[in-house]
Amino acid sequence: MRFVSPGPATTEALGHSLAQLVRPGDVITLEAPLGGGKTTLVRGLAGGLGIAEDQVSSPTFVIWQIYVGNLRLHHIDAYRLRSSEELEEIGLAECLAGSDVVVLEWPLVAGPLLPEDRLEVKLDYGVSEEERSIELIPLGNWQERLRGWDFEV
Ligand SMILES: Nc1ncnc2c1ncn2[C@@H]1O[C@H](COP(=O)(O)OP(=O)(O)OP(=O)(O)O)[C@@H](O)[C@H]1O
Ligand SMILES: [Mg+2]
Repeated sequence: MRFVSPGPATTEALGHSLAQLVRPGDVITLEAPLGGGKTTLVRGLAGGLGIAEDQVSSPTFVIWQIYVGNLRLHHIDAYRLRSSEELEEIGLAECLAGSDVVVLEWPLVAGPLLPEDRLEVKLDYGVSEEERSIELIPLGNWQERLRGWDFEV
């Protein structure tokens, strides 16, 4: 499923709408180039989960942030990590096994730790400065869930 977002407000609204589908224990991965819109989407998602959006910032220097609202959202940035062992050392496996929601940026390094049921989100730049493409790739039980959902850009 693919969308073209014309600006940050739309990306944030898409994140907010996706929150309707989120259940305890879910994992969402985010792949995008620097400045691609990851934090913007997470801000919307957090808002949709009853979390104050101003808690959400770019966690590049803080590897792991936890926001609390209707549930706990872990916002993890693996940009600076080199191996799945490093992610295990900081406790990712335990976190993924629990009932909190996890959003993982730069997920490729986490490969073997990721659950089969997950939503992959890929953002990229578009043709104008504020345009972004947003691709949603549902895996496992997310396929059925995403079928009942749509977003009007
Ligand atoms: N369509 C859009 N969707 C999301 N953000 C956009 C869009 N157009 C412009 N932007 C802007 O791009 C900038 C970077 O967005 P954001 O911080 O969400 O990206 P990021 O992927 O988290 O970046 P970083 O990799 O540096 O953490 C922000 O100023 C945001 O407002
Ligand atoms: Mg960011």
